[in-house]
Amino acid sequence: MAYQREMANVEFDRWSASYDRSILQDWLFHPSHESLLSQIEPSDQRLLDVGCGTGQFLVEALRRNPQLTAVGLDLSMKMLEQGSARFQAFADRLQAVRGDSEQLPFADDHFDVITCSHSFHHYPRQAAVIAEMHRVLKPGGKLLILDGLRDTWWGWFIFDVMVTWVEGGVHHCSSSRMRQLYRNASFNDLKQIKKKWFVPYLLTVGAAHKMARIQPRPSVAKAA
Ligand SMILES: C[S@@+](CC[C@H](N)C(=O)[O-])C[C@H]1O[C@@H](n2cnc3c(N)ncnc32)[C@H](O)[C@@H]1O
Repeated sequence: MAYQREMANVEFDRWSASYDRSILQDWLFHPSHESLLSQIEPSDQRLLDVGCGTGQFLVEALRRNPQLTAVGLDLSMKMLEQGSARFQAFADRLQAVRGDSEQLPFADDHFDVITCSHSFHHYPRQAAVIAEMHRVLKPGGKLLILDGLRDTWWGWFIFDVMVTWVEGGVHHCSSSRMRQLYRNASFNDLKQIKKKWFVPYLLTVGAAHKMARIQPRPSVAKAA
């Protein structure tokens, strides 16, 4: 059966109570968050984290970057509830929103940077999500997608065999497929960081290219 959004909701509602104590926090999530954190710059003001879970990455990003304000969006209400103490501790700079990555409830050209950590493989329509991320980024805004790297045989075994056995038909993109998705959605200046061993991960970085909007010229009244 094709992977459905509702399957992610059920999985993470169920996992939420023990998520922060999972062995994956030490093996995968925390080490890979470091590579994401290293990409946030002092000029970044507004950050959106899509699939934010219990907010561990977000509060670390806010702690290290005092200029940032952030929104965390997640499909699973129970993941957000599990992180509520964290969200509360940064309430003046952080908002948690329940929503779907395919329909981001934000205005066009709003964020300087979007992060998405270990969530992208759950999206049934990945191209539609990247297009939506492009819409809400400011011109030149950065998209940082972090997910398991399946390019090597070891990564393939972990993510395509083991993870799909546990989670169902999720899809980890190869690094070339990820570059193609970014390019198709008008991202440029692409860069990829790959960690290939133990629990491998891939971080893809791109800048949103947007055409300048053409302002209609005021009509010039003909001289009588
Ligand atoms: C493995 S957790 C990662 C959480 C967090 N980003 C981190 O790095 O610890 C994946 C998260 O993606 C969320 N998710 C899955 N599908 C989603 C969707 N369509 N829209 C928004 N969030 C989604 C899940 O509810 C879950 O909280």
